[in-house]
Amino acid sequence: MGKKKDKSEKKTQHEAYGVTVLRAAHPEIRGLKRDHEPEIHGDKLWNSSYLIMDYLQHQGMPPESHVLEVGCGWGLLGIYCAKQFGAEVTGVDADPNVFPYLHAQAEANQVVIKTRKSRFESLRRGHLEGYDLMVGGDICFWDELIDPVYKLARRAVKAGVDQIIIADPGRPPFDTVCEMAVKKLGGEVIQWEVKSPTKAKGWLLIIGGLPTMTLA
Ligand SMILES: C[S@@+](CC[C@H](N)C(=O)[O-])C[C@H]1O[C@@H](n2cnc3c(N)ncnc32)[C@H](O)[C@@H]1O
Repeated sequence: MGKKKDKSEKKTQHEAYGVTVLRAAHPEIRGLKRDHEPEIHGDKLWNSSYLIMDYLQHQGMPPESHVLEVGCGWGLLGIYCAKQFGAEVTGVDADPNVFPYLHAQAEANQVVIKTRKSRFESLRRGHLEGYDLMVGGDICFWDELIDPVYKLARRAVKAGVDQIIIADPGRPPFDTVCEMAVKKLGGEVIQWEVKSPTKAKGWLLIIGGLPTMTLA
């Protein structure tokens, strides 16, 4: 009996970077689908989130950091920041249908994530002040998102956010944002790759840096 349960759990959830990820086939996620249908692709965990988790695993994060995950979808990147680094996290998305999924994933990981329904364009400087890190995985997939994403990054820099990390497999709209951010915001673009829990390759746009941490 025990073995059978383990096997079926494997199919409906997995562990990645210390985070429990409920898959689309998980009964709780399937239950949510009946009433909440995400409308702007926030219907799964996208691989770019793994790229940022992996990068943060290498870089680290000072304790009690305030993190804003933009275009959060199911919110697992923010959940990772809360669970692994004790960060205080807010997930922002234009589509409120993603939040029940985020809260279910957060509960499975025993963390609490604040949420805010907002488009990138509506996040003003006042909404961004006080955050140390702004992250976003797979948030620049249409030409119409170039301007909102670039200007959001620029407002975040002006608001004093220490570091901004946006990841993408390398779609043309993201490349355009990178070109502008490198030229005008002092950003850098690096290639990143993960092998587990899935093979994924992509690019990280990194603007700024978190304060150096004192190692114990
Ligand atoms: C491809 S999904 C990525 C979700 C999540 N970051 C991940 O890695 O799993 C893109 C997310 O961005 C959100 N989104 C798209 N356009 C947006 C906008 N203009 N303002 C805020 N959120 C937006 C969508 O609702 C969706 O949840």
